[in-house]
Amino acid sequence: MSVLVCGGAGYIGSHCVYKLIELGQKVVVVDNLQTGNSKAIHKDAIFYKGDIRDLDFLNKVFTEQEIDSVIHFAANSLVGISMSEPLSYFDNNVYGTEMLLRAMSQNDIKKIVFSSTAAVYGEPKSVPILETDETNPTNPYGETKLAMEKMMKWVDIAHGIKFVSLRYFNVAGAHESGYIGEAHSPETHLIPLVLEVPLGKREKVLIFGDDYETKDGTCIRDYIHVMDLIEAHLLALEYLEKGNKSDIFNLGNGMGFSVKEIIHASERVTGQKIKNEIAPRRLGDPAILVASSEKAKNILSWRPKYTDINDIISSAWKFHKTHENGFN
Ligand code: UFG
Repeated sequence: MSVLVCGGAGYIGSHCVYKLIELGQKVVVVDNLQTGNSKAIHKDAIFYKGDIRDLDFLNKVFTEQEIDSVIHFAANSLVGISMSEPLSYFDNNVYGTEMLLRAMSQNDIKKIVFSSTAAVYGEPKSVPILETDETNPTNPYGETKLAMEKMMKWVDIAHGIKFVSLRYFNVAGAHESGYIGEAHSPETHLIPLVLEVPLGKREKVLIFGDDYETKDGTCIRDYIHVMDLIEAHLLALEYLEKGNKSDIFNLGNGMGFSVKEIIHASERVTGQKIKNEIAPRRLGDPAILVASSEKAKNILSWRPKYTDINDIISSAWKFHKTHENGFN
């Protein structure tokens, strides 16, 4: 039996595929390569290029391959673009998930692990954020992920498809091999942008606001290593295989680092001074986002290994040093 990884050519999906294959699993990847890169797909995975919004395409994959469970990463994930193009986010994310669940139902596939986000919470009323806290997205990206979670809840009740939704905080770092890592185009995430300065690809990094109510005035985020995140997906699959009920878990380190702290840690890791400049706040950025991941620790027995921010940045640096232009 195989695991179907939708979005297996993207940053997080490709790391999941590598890990599953290292564990001896058979993996089928579906990706439309809109934001993913075929070079990030492990050579031992069976790859179908296509779009999850295409029900006939999905049915062909399910018919040709013996698929037992699905891990779903195939979605657009840029907050800023979602604000200017909400309809394309609803189309790709919500309609895409509808078609995937329809195909799963038609082919009697009963388990899905889903890639959700801290953006479902919006501006938190308290930190660390618990899964039971209010969800109130402040952008279409978070809204689509929340809608996808809700769709899965009702599909479980109607069709018995069990899901685990994992609400990621700030994912960073790269696979231990350094073969794959974070390479978005355009890049908007803090750590890869900071590392572009010592690589000589960028003169300076902009700090979006230094007048937040935080210790140094810059935004605080909870950075989780991509391989720790993937470990939680494997535990979530096991959890579903044991016949447990559908559930939702936060995934973060439980520790917050400010933008300035990330820049300083990157200076330590790279041994180079990183030029930066204070810029206006970015629209929609909450001051502090830190997860409580106690539930994932208690129920999934998840134990993150990369709790030191220097280790997370070092692993990202290892990838970027050898892939200055991403996969191109
Ligand atoms: N930042 C800068 N300068 C930059 C880029 C980012 O100061 O050039 C700051 C941001 O303002 C923010 C922090 O660095 O305070 C982290 O920004 P990222 O863009 O790396 O990540 P976000 O926290 O905005 O977003 C991440 C995920 C989203 C998810 C969100 C949930 O990438 O998919 O967390 O809160 F929705």
